[in-house]
Amino acid sequence: MSSETILDVAGLRTTFHVKRANKKYALKAVDNVSFHLDKGEILGFVGETGCGKTTVGRSIIKLTKPEGGVVTFGGNNILNLTGRRLREVRLKVRMVFQDPYASLNPRRRIADSVAEAGDIHKLFNSPQDRLKQIAETLKRVGLDPSFADRFPHELSGGQRQRVGIARALLPIPGIIIADEPVSALDVSIQAQILNLLLDLRKRLNLAIIFISHDLSVVGQICDRIAVMYLGRVVEIGEAEELFNRPLHPYTQALIHAVPKPNPRLRIGKGMALGEPPSRFELKPGCTYADRCPLAEGVCLTDVPEIKTVKNAQMAACHKL
Ligand SMILES: Nc1ncnc2c1ncn2[C@@H]1O[C@H](COP(=O)(O)OP(=O)(O)OP(=O)(O)O)[C@@H](O)[C@H]1O
Ligand SMILES: [Mg+2]
Repeated sequence: MSSETILDVAGLRTTFHVKRANKKYALKAVDNVSFHLDKGEILGFVGETGCGKTTVGRSIIKLTKPEGGVVTFGGNNILNLTGRRLREVRLKVRMVFQDPYASLNPRRRIADSVAEAGDIHKLFNSPQDRLKQIAETLKRVGLDPSFADRFPHELSGGQRQRVGIARALLPIPGIIIADEPVSALDVSIQAQILNLLLDLRKRLNLAIIFISHDLSVVGQICDRIAVMYLGRVVEIGEAEELFNRPLHPYTQALIHAVPKPNPRLRIGKGMALGEPPSRFELKPGCTYADRCPLAEGVCLTDVPEIKTVKNAQMAACHKL
């Protein structure tokens, strides 16, 4: 763990116990995921729908309870914290969601949504201090302080997402977990929100976990990228390296499906990679073996552990 590391996640495991057609299954939504996040760094999580990106984000701050792992932040394992100490951590590690309309209360003025965490935690010295901090926070996300008095329905999608980000900035956190923050927005507005996040990272030295199913979006903003497949990180490394020299066959398939030089790919429906296997009845061996052109022998029997392959680039593949 370097001195610049703000968050270290080791062996994170989150299982959902679900019932399908009268049978009980333990669905390993997040299976042995490890990574670190440095101060001021933007780390992307990318992968197809259902691969576990959201569950990773939620598990870190125990919005979903993991069954195993260690999440080191500020000298503590977040997973051991409860009550007041957990709530304090959740002020320093904040979430931004995909759909700002769904996450904003339609009957509350923008000011009250932005001030919500501050109100709950009694962070304001006076009503004047509260107004001042709301205005400052709105300005930080490029909104005029007069937006404080408006209601969500009076805002455009991009403005609402700016409010969604503003809520996560009062008080200023160390980490933002942004779960598909631009997926509901038009492409032109997406760029503005991505630029805002880049700008906030620079000005506030924020570390950001940026979750998206869209490799091209992740490529525009992230310093490092983690590629997830069926609950596991199959590759993680510098964005530049990962795009130029993808190691894992799955990452290669994703990247090669992206037309260059301006990569635009929506992973998920319509992707030319075939259907992923059922999450309910996973076979032994590598989870990617069903779709992998290289799979043979050991790939069908043993789960590959993630290992460093080149410089800081890690991948989970028996063939590397
Ligand atoms: N509360 C829950 N109960 C049961 N299963 C769940 C629950 N939340 C998620 N899952 C399952 O866990 C797996 C991972 O879901 P998750 O939402 O983390 O994926 P994701 O990568 O964020 O997908 P998307 O790109 O669609 O947002 C999926 O198979 C999903 O169906
Ligand atoms: Mg998700």
